[in-house]
Amino acid sequence: MTIRVLHVASELYPLLKTGGLADVTAALPAALIELGADARVLLPGFAGVAAGLADLRPIARLERSFGVNEATLELGRLPGNDLPVYMIRADAFYARPGSPYLDEEHVPYGDNAQRFALLGWAAAQLAQHLDPAWAPHIVHAHDWHAGLALAYLRAATRERGRAVARGVFTIHNLAYQGIFPAQQFGELGLPADFFDMHGIEFYGQLSFLKAGLYYADKITTVSPTYAREIQTVAQGGGLEALLKGRAHDLVGILNGVDYNVWSPANDEAIAARYSVTRMSGKLRCKAALQQRFNLTQKHDAPVFGVVSRLTEQKGLDLLLAALPEIVARGGQLVVLGTGDASLEAGFARAARQHPDAVAVELGFDETLAHEIVAGSDVIMVPSRFEPCGLTQLYALAYGALPLVHRVGGLADTVTDASLENLADGTATGLVFERFEPDALTAAIRRAFALYARSRDWRETRARGMREDFGWAASAQRYLALYRELV
Ligand code: ADP
Ligand code: GLC
Repeated sequence: MTIRVLHVASELYPLLKTGGLADVTAALPAALIELGADARVLLPGFAGVAAGLADLRPIARLERSFGVNEATLELGRLPGNDLPVYMIRADAFYARPGSPYLDEEHVPYGDNAQRFALLGWAAAQLAQHLDPAWAPHIVHAHDWHAGLALAYLRAATRERGRAVARGVFTIHNLAYQGIFPAQQFGELGLPADFFDMHGIEFYGQLSFLKAGLYYADKITTVSPTYAREIQTVAQGGGLEALLKGRAHDLVGILNGVDYNVWSPANDEAIAARYSVTRMSGKLRCKAALQQRFNLTQKHDAPVFGVVSRLTEQKGLDLLLAALPEIVARGGQLVVLGTGDASLEAGFARAARQHPDAVAVELGFDETLAHEIVAGSDVIMVPSRFEPCGLTQLYALAYGALPLVHRVGGLADTVTDASLENLADGTATGLVFERFEPDALTAAIRRAFALYARSRDWRETRARGMREDFGWAASAQRYLALYRELV
């Protein structure tokens, strides 16, 4: 039987991306289709989405619109791979410039509950044949934006007395919970008893994330270690009891890399192409990066790169503290990121203090992200917590050693260059244990020490480049999960 699955999310690479979620929602459905599944995506019609989809045509008018004057469902396809994508056109909700979640003052839009309730409601309608030509067996909701889909699905199942579709919820990040005031519950049109501790109520408020977790038939998250971590008080965000209670329905499936987008051998965004057997192009990428940022042109100065959202999660305050170590030892640092004002200011200050050795670009720039990963010797991901993390996987593919905190998906994907791991031929990067500045500083010192032992460095780098984090294996696991449910 061909499994029909609808992925419900708010981002999709390359149309709209603020982080790794977009990479996953583009690559996973495509990988599922490769395996014979019939996968489609449902997204809000944000400006970039409406402008980027090809062959958009109306499918149905949406009866409920959560206060927006008009909402319709359209179907198009993603140029490039022809992935079928449903889009909710409700311009007053979604056609806003800038971030899909925040206004110009970086404050969440006041109507986010309604905007994302519409997304969830439309998903449940699709499961009830809103499109007469296609309905999913599985509704697969990603992160809090899509959490209500599973509540509406449960409500429909109860009303009809039989399952209209089964629900899977994937946690990409437990730190964003979609919390809204309890008064808004009435507007959602859900059964009154759903406002309950066993439901979408969360400490007197509404949580769209909790709705997803509570009403899902299966819960997944994006690495095995994070699946364990979120069942603890330290990392459960107040939801650890729920998650622990559902441990038998919770599984960690590692994200993959879309090597069509992230391969140094055929990446048009970088200065020169290279591969594990022909590495000279990487030196050209490094020189081009130093030149672009007016750093001292030194091929033997290790370049440390960062491509990241600048948020508390990413642990870059530690890097600011450890940065003198890089500069003092003759290394260089290139940072691309956007987010918290204090982190932006901190890195901008460091770049002013050390113009030859530290460079910062504040903003979101997909091409530059590729250039930095290709031109760097080390990519730093010192996150406080990290559900999976994709940048360290891209770093491995591009022969930049990931330097990571041992947490979440970082712990599952990088093997430390300890003496014994070097001797055993398993090292792929640098891993530090304690989330403290001196632990990061020590890891930076180890990076310099390894860099000076060029044979060990080259072997470690080559090992990382040969690793396969393609989507095939993970997509198989999702498919097996769907089959279990249908
Ligand atoms: P998260 O989803 O928590 O941000 P991931 O490591 O999973 O972390 O994914 C981050 C993705 O976003 C990667 O594709 C990375 O290249 C990209 N990215 C992050 N910040 C920027 C930026 N400022 N410019 C371009 N790409 C960025
Ligand atoms: C989240 C996480 C990140 C993960 C990404 C895709 O944004 O922070 O660790 O890789 O989602 O799953």
